[in-house]
Amino acid sequence: MGQKINRERNSRKRKNRVSVIYAVMLAVFAVFEIIIIKDHFNNDHESIAADSTVKEYKISGEEDDLLILVNADNPIPEDHIPELTELSNGQSVDSRIYPDLQKMFDDMREQGIYPVVGEGYRTAEAQQKAMDDKIEAFMHDGCSKKIAERLAAEQVAAVGTSEHQLGLAVDINADKTKSDNEEVYAWLAENAYKYGFILRYPANKVKITGYDYEPWHYRYVGKENAENIFSSGVCLEEYVENYEE
Ligand code: DAL
Ligand code: ZN
Repeated sequence: MGQKINRERNSRKRKNRVSVIYAVMLAVFAVFEIIIIKDHFNNDHESIAADSTVKEYKISGEEDDLLILVNADNPIPEDHIPELTELSNGQSVDSRIYPDLQKMFDDMREQGIYPVVGEGYRTAEAQQKAMDDKIEAFMHDGCSKKIAERLAAEQVAAVGTSEHQLGLAVDINADKTKSDNEEVYAWLAENAYKYGFILRYPANKVKITGYDYEPWHYRYVGKENAENIFSSGVCLEEYVENYEE
């Protein structure tokens, strides 16, 4: 009888120990995820956009079509079919941006900076793959699926809501043999507006755009709009809002 009571006591103790170990493991895992998320948010981003205090734009309306706003709240219209021009490296862009993109690249090369279009137009399938790859990368780094999905959504647009599907956005990087990315990004931040391109996801507009700082992602809006956006320091969401008033 006494032995039976002892066995039950021991069994209860074992169960309690297992529960405690399990709880500790869960807590360690939770702390680990919090560290990953904090690390992600703490990344210091150099602010490269001016303060968005100036709100008066000189707008002629000639570039209206190029101002289409696509973000998480504004999906691409279903009837949007871009007319594309294929670049020499196999990437494609909306044909309307090609002449200014070519001119910008020519001028950069003349100044000793060597850029490449890493990615231009993306099909819906390519956008989905970009999202899947990003989620997988976060999971590979130790995040749970839920956290990986949340972090990926801050860097990659959900299918149907990416400017890459418009053909009006280009990811511009260095060719890596003659230039490095930092040189290319610095040149673009200072000069791309002269060719009609804007830094679409500035470091100081993350709360508005919904995306992390992307020094490589440039969006074509036409030269007049780009000049206005650059000089006033607003992001496209703010510009479009003001423009519609
Ligand atoms: N990286 C940007 C937000 C995109 O996926 O379109
Ligand atoms: Zn991009």
